[in-house]
Amino acid sequence: MTATTAAATGSSTPGPAARTAARVTDAVKVYGAGDTTVRALDGVTVGFAAGRFTAIMGPSGSGKSTLMHCAAGLDTLTSGTAHIGDTELSALDDRRLTLLRRDRIGFVFQQFNLVPTLTVAENITLPLDLAGARGDAEWIDALVDVVGLRDRLRHRPAELSGGQQQRVAVARAFAGRPDVVFADEPTGNLDSRSGQEVLGLLGRAVRQMDRTVVMVTHDPVAAAHADEVLFLADGRLVDRMESPTADKVLDRMKAFEVRT
Ligand SMILES: Nc1ncnc2c1ncn2[C@@H]1O[C@H](COP(=O)(O)OP(=O)(O)O)[C@@H](O)[C@H]1O
Ligand SMILES: [Mg+2]
Repeated sequence: MTATTAAATGSSTPGPAARTAARVTDAVKVYGAGDTTVRALDGVTVGFAAGRFTAIMGPSGSGKSTLMHCAAGLDTLTSGTAHIGDTELSALDDRRLTLLRRDRIGFVFQQFNLVPTLTVAENITLPLDLAGARGDAEWIDALVDVVGLRDRLRHRPAELSGGQQQRVAVARAFAGRPDVVFADEPTGNLDSRSGQEVLGLLGRAVRQMDRTVVMVTHDPVAAAHADEVLFLADGRLVDRMESPTADKVLDRMKAFEVRT
């Protein structure tokens, strides 16, 4: 296994360039009991570098969503540890975990999860409003331009295309300047053109606005937007690829299928 173990070892990682926004160590997740147990994560150690766009790639059922959910504090590991920055998630009670998710993590899901009764502008600032935080008006203003929703701010989600709705969800995820944004199949419900827009947006947020994104996908074209791709198979981290292209990612996926 060539996994990103170096990034996960923390103390031996020099300098701020190698800062790790999120990491899991020896992560095991077992679902169910008795005959029906599924080992969704089977000893994964990986760090997600700050300021980078990382894609988690693998076939359906390989544990991608489980890894993301456990790394982001939406689910708990059976054993092993998960950190956001220096904070170990299992050390937090429910209330602190909820606050950490709200204040330090952004989420984008396949189904956009917008509030239908709120306007675009209200949806974008919802996490901040729930936190009673004022937010950074200049930052949010810049975000609105980055996602190209300036002329839609007073619309309701139902008046937008799927691609526009997902761009609202992306803006909402970044609104509070979280340490890391996790996206689970963010283009899964979009046509390829809208999907490309959303992926371009995630890439620009990382490269132009110094954000950190971890994206789960099974689509090589989507993964090619990332700086680095991590490959999962059967709950294990089996490979990584820097500067991916869709063709290279596709070839790597095929190689796994031949081997198994
Ligand atoms: N809540 C759950 N209960 C039982 N098994 C689950 C649950 N969630 C996921 N699994 C199983 O864990 C494995 C990994 O699932 P998942 O992380 O969703 O994979 P992926 O996102 O790569 O498709 C699969 O075998 C899946 O069926
Ligand atoms: Mg999944």
